[in-house]
Amino acid sequence: MKVLVATDKPFAPVAVKGIKEVLDKAGYEMVLLEKYGDKANFVKAAAQADAIIIRSDVVDEDVLAAAPQLKIVVRAGAGYDNVDLAAATKHGVCVMNTPGQNSNAVAELALGLMVYAVRNLYNGTSGTELKGKKLGIHAYGNVGRNVARIAKGFGMEVYAYDAYVPAEAMKQEGIIPVVSAEELYSTCNIVSLHIPATDETKNSINADLVGKMPKNGVLINTARKEVIDETSLLMLMESRPDIKYMTDVMPAADAKFASKFPDRYFATPKKMGAQTAEANINAGIAAARQIVDFLENGNERFRVNK
Ligand code: 3PG
Repeated sequence: MKVLVATDKPFAPVAVKGIKEVLDKAGYEMVLLEKYGDKANFVKAAAQADAIIIRSDVVDEDVLAAAPQLKIVVRAGAGYDNVDLAAATKHGVCVMNTPGQNSNAVAELALGLMVYAVRNLYNGTSGTELKGKKLGIHAYGNVGRNVARIAKGFGMEVYAYDAYVPAEAMKQEGIIPVVSAEELYSTCNIVSLHIPATDETKNSINADLVGKMPKNGVLINTARKEVIDETSLLMLMESRPDIKYMTDVMPAADAKFASKFPDRYFATPKKMGAQTAEANINAGIAAARQIVDFLENGNERFRVNK
């Protein structure tokens, strides 16, 4: 079996070594395609693959049509909005993710962005502390839970909104549940986004919602750029000179945000949330193991397409 590891943003070398060890043990061959740049290079490499491990790499009809032997794609990470699930199903390809494997890394980065925001982007002026502030977690999944755990260590009061998680489960973990996104934004000093990019969530974070935040509100985005209504947020930040936006997923309108709000906006040049050796090892090795378990035993536990 040939397993293509196609990562335009490479894993840490130690994680690649771990993936190779899992595949070697199964008698599989690993083909490594890193920093491939042009999609055509990915399409070409996919032609020989029985299985593919990706990160945010796009798997669409072009890739799938070029890979007649392909049986499984594993997104080493949480969000799978980069995979055309319907096309995969059409081609008889199983798609999986590796939920939870990189969530601590993303959560730590979210807290880092919070400190950076409240200390005024380290510009030398007097800022504020996280202790005692109200943090709103928008979607209480694997990353949200880790953010909550760390934020409690900072002494923050943690609120969360998630239509799919029972309030009781949040309360048991010391989180204050709220009943709507509106309530979350109007209550919290800082909101950290952890929603996936779906048809329902795209462009859903807009001026109406963020504008409900109290004075000096901070919006943190380590989720996806598509969930933000950028035009609306730009307008809000014009009219509310107290609002800050810190993101690990660079907006399409990055240049506008950066030039208009240099002291209230920050975007990482490349998505960094899951870029740690630990997260790469966890997610990469989990992906390799899931491939072996699927091909050898038919285990579909983490399948995300029908
Ligand atoms: C995820 O969905 O797992 C994160 O956004 C990390 O994405 P990455 O593997 O492209 O860094």
